Amino acid sequence: MTIITKASILCLLAATVVSPSIGGDTLTPGRPLADGGGTLISAGGRFELGFFSPGASNNRYIGIWYHDIAQTVVWVANRKRPVTGRPGTLFIATNGTLIITDDNSTAIWSSSSPPLANPVAQLLDDGNFVVREAGSDSEDPNSFAWQSFDFPTDTHLPGMKLGWNLTSHLNRNLTSWTSASDPAPGNYTAAIDLHGYPQLFIFSGTRKYWRGGSWNGIVFSSVPEAIYASDRFNIVFIIDSQEVMYTNYLRNASMISRLVMNQSGKLQRFVWIEERSSWNLFWFRPKDQCDSMSPCGPNGVCYPSDWPMCHCLKGFRPKDPSNWDLRDGSDGCVRKTALDCRNGTDGFVTLNGAMIPDTSSSVVDWSLSLEQCRARCLRNCSCTAYASANISGSESGCIMWTTDLTDLGVVSSGSGQDLYVRLAAADLGSESGDSRRSRVVVISVVIAMTILVLGCAACCVWKRKKRRKNCLAEGHNEGTGQDLDLPLFDLAAIIDATDDFSIHNKLGEGGYGPVFKGKLGGEQDIAVKRLSKTSMQGLEEFKNEVMLTAKLQHRNLVRLLGCCIQAGERMLIYEYMPNRSLDAFLFDKSEDISLDWQTRRNIIVGIARGLLYLHQDSRFRIIHRDLKASNILLDKDMNPKISDFGMARVFGGDETEANTRRVVGTYGYMSPEYAMDGIFSVKSDVFSFGVLLLEIVSGKKNRGVIYHSASHLNLLGYIWSLWKEGKGSELVDGSIGHSCSLAEVLRCITVGLLCVQERPEDRPTMSSVVIMLNSDGELPQPQQPGFVVARAPPETGSSTTNHDSSSTRNSLSVTLLEGR
Ligand SMILES: *[C@@H]1O[C@H](CO)[C@@H](O)[C@H](O)[C@H]1NC(C)=O
Ligand SMILES: *[C@@H]1O[C@H](CO)[C@@H](O)[C@H](O)[C@H]1NC(C)=O
Ligand SMILES: *[C@@H]1O[C@H](CO)[C@@H](O)[C@H](O)[C@H]1NC(C)=O
Ligand SMILES: *[C@@H]1O[C@H](CO)[C@@H](O)[C@H](O)[C@H]1NC(C)=O
Ligand SMILES: *[C@@H]1O[C@H](CO)[C@@H](O)[C@H](O)[C@H]1NC(C)=O
Ligand SMILES: *[C@@H]1O[C@H](CO)[C@@H](O)[C@H](O)[C@H]1NC(C)=O
Ligand SMILES: *[C@@H]1O[C@H](CO)[C@@H](O)[C@H](O)[C@H]1NC(C)=O
Ligand SMILES: *[C@@H]1O[C@H](CO)[C@@H](O)[C@H](O)[C@H]1NC(C)=O
Ligand SMILES: *[C@@H]1O[C@H](CO)[C@@H](O)[C@H](O)[C@H]1NC(C)=O
Ligand SMILES: *[C@@H]1O[C@H](CO)[C@@H](O)[C@H](O)[C@H]1NC(C)=O
Repeated sequence: MTIITKASILCLLAATVVSPSIGGDTLTPGRPLADGGGTLISAGGRFELGFFSPGASNNRYIGIWYHDIAQTVVWVANRKRPVTGRPGTLFIATNGTLIITDDNSTAIWSSSSPPLANPVAQLLDDGNFVVREAGSDSEDPNSFAWQSFDFPTDTHLPGMKLGWNLTSHLNRNLTSWTSASDPAPGNYTAAIDLHGYPQLFIFSGTRKYWRGGSWNGIVFSSVPEAIYASDRFNIVFIIDSQEVMYTNYLRNASMISRLVMNQSGKLQRFVWIEERSSWNLFWFRPKDQCDSMSPCGPNGVCYPSDWPMCHCLKGFRPKDPSNWDLRDGSDGCVRKTALDCRNGTDGFVTLNGAMIPDTSSSVVDWSLSLEQCRARCLRNCSCTAYASANISGSESGCIMWTTDLTDLGVVSSGSGQDLYVRLAAADLGSESGDSRRSRVVVISVVIAMTILVLGCAACCVWKRKKRRKNCLAEGHNEGTGQDLDLPLFDLAAIIDATDDFSIHNKLGEGGYGPVFKGKLGGEQDIAVKRLSKTSMQGLEEFKNEVMLTAKLQHRNLVRLLGCCIQAGERMLIYEYMPNRSLDAFLFDKSEDISLDWQTRRNIIVGIARGLLYLHQDSRFRIIHRDLKASNILLDKDMNPKISDFGMARVFGGDETEANTRRVVGTYGYMSPEYAMDGIFSVKSDVFSFGVLLLEIVSGKKNRGVIYHSASHLNLLGYIWSLWKEGKGSELVDGSIGHSCSLAEVLRCITVGLLCVQERPEDRPTMSSVVIMLNSDGELPQPQQPGFVVARAPPETGSSTTNHDSSSTRNSLSVTLLEGR
């Protein structure tokens, strides 16, 4: 029976297809490949070539895909011109030209190659489809008259070259598909650009869209994370008179990997995970704000993990400070002092961990060492910076810039390279060699003095009469401002403790500036919050934070050790929390240590106690207004401490709510009445606490993530929908494992939902929350929370918005909410 069926199918095929169906991996003039007549499969069984229809389309294309992996097309021959009727045919003409014809036998695509006497076309096991003389060596690329690797579509496979053959001007680049069902060339092309020192770019049309940078001997300079792939790939980049090209080979041939230019402009590296039968995204670019073209303008430096992200290079200042303050860095920076080449007094400042600037008009001299490079740059008056061209092994080669430095970034994770930027002597400050050494001496003295000074805080008054001793002495007159004896730290000591605010010491970003780790006098660990000079936090917020933090003493609030006000800098010095902030544990899945249930519960209860103290038990009634995971710090025993009081407000004894024109806080944690009407009360903190609690239990972020795409639910909405269906246990963070008591978890979730109720009066006070968390009495039933629909949030951390604009922004979610 089965035999008969199979036989009749074969007969059918034989009837529709002119020649017998193709087996094997080669095509010869006598054996065309007809649509429906089978496919070519490479000898090792990895790749397959034949007719296919992408996505929802009915059009037919000749393509190559992985034989064993569904729906991963790596090459398309006739991407611009499909076969619209059946059957199309692919055949090789007797002179070696590959031709695709449609059902009227009209050629719709053909390859071009010099004529051959006895041609064959073969699909090789690396995914290359080649035309060569029969009998020639299929391993030898020189025997290929034509190869699909020379005409890539959107995918780069190991062994394929990307870039230029300078003799034939062949430019091999990756161009995205138009859509998932149309392989025609789309908007984005990843290509090697030959101007100056060659670089990888993504072009959108003819516009440069992303700069992958120049080759630094290991990786493209703007894709430093690809370093982590170099033990799997043998990467080759060649620049010579014949060609400028990139390729890679897999060190382990059983690995499967591809690089794809996707339709939304992302260059993605995938690797195949056999056990899970899925493609894993290894890296992709562009990925952050710093990945647009020169976001910080000439001589600006983009810090992807900083907010604001743009800084000027040392020795430069914002060209247009007012735009710069509004976070538009695109005007860039200008020198504070013009270079003075003739006197030979210029020097260099080093920028570590740089993704080096655009080299489109740079020159490279391979014969120079780094020392010679420096000398060459100093001699040439138009040289603005230099760097090593090859950081692999001992640094060699010399890249010199003679223009402004554009599209300069800094890598947050260790890799990157040193860039030496030329500065006038006046701007070099203490950075040049000799004065640096003398600075070390000066600083050591200063530290010794500072320690002495701190030792007898009382003595300070006469010892430093001119400098204010107390952090609050400056202009504070709010009645509550009695002397707090809060030590004033010396700027030099702080600079030394933090290694001049080295990016390596950076802990994170607070509301109004970066936070650095420091070691005071080589001993005491401290955390220094440095208020950005350009930040919008005025003296008002600063003093607010100092005053509040100094007066509040509770084991769940972070302790302020002192401050530093000097040379236009304002800094707060806190006790250092070795376990940093909660968000790293919750949301950063790369963090090894996960939190078990008992720790999570302690954190929740600790935060509740700290907040209760602020709301009720301290001398003032304080509303924090910016409670969020990144503002919860963890000490060595994982006790939570609430930090960042820059936005907190003190209430009079009988005052219970207030209205503000300036809505400050963080999207995702703001209560509806506060975000929309600017009304805040202790209940707006309760809302933020509820969000935080649910994030701690679920290990998921509320802000900016959609958990249910059809109805755009954010975390609150998602949890509510699960809770309603009695499936609350499903949202427990997987990493909690079996360490939890389900009853406790569900209790916590219920309390969390009560805290995020839409109407402030439906939310419990913190004292009730503490009681509910610690007892096991009956709990009220929560209703649907406020703000269950995810919105696209601004990408920044804390934000300050004018009330008017924020209410229009939020009206969107109000409308959506009405549909429920
Ligand atoms: C090869 O043959 C095809 C069809 O027979 C023809 O269209 C093409 O021009 C020929 N190519 C060369 C290089 O002669
Ligand atoms: C094939 O030829 C017929 C008749 O000339 C025409 O109607 C049809 O559109 C052609 N098909 C294609 C795909 O060109
Ligand atoms: C560049 O192309 C020419 C002409 O096709 C070829 O002879 C040469 O070998 C190619 N060069 C390289 C480096 O592949
Ligand atoms: C990509 O390659 C094609 C074919 O060589 C060429 O026409 C096109 O200009 C290239 N695009 C870019 C952006 O280099
Ligand atoms: C390509 O860009 C144009 C103009 O920006 C846009 O209209 C079009 O939708 C884009 N195409 C794709 C496939 O994204
Ligand atoms: C190559 O990878 C396979 C599967 O990932 C592994 O089993 C094998 O040991 C690897 N071979 C080498 C030489 O590392
Ligand atoms: C392109 O890649 C990005 C990053 O991996 C991904 O988020 C996006 O969905 C991709 N777009 C398409 C159309 O596949
Ligand atoms: C540099 O030379 C100029 C004259 O060309 C002189 O006025 C200036 O004082 C010199 N600067 C230094 C730092 O020597
Ligand atoms: C300075 O360097 C640039 C770029 O290398 C070069 O074009 C120029 O001739 C050099 N000028 C001098 C005076 O050497
Ligand atoms: C870069 O340096 C390494 C180690 O010294 C060397 O093997 C490599 O060939 C160099 N690359 C270039 C492009 O010169």
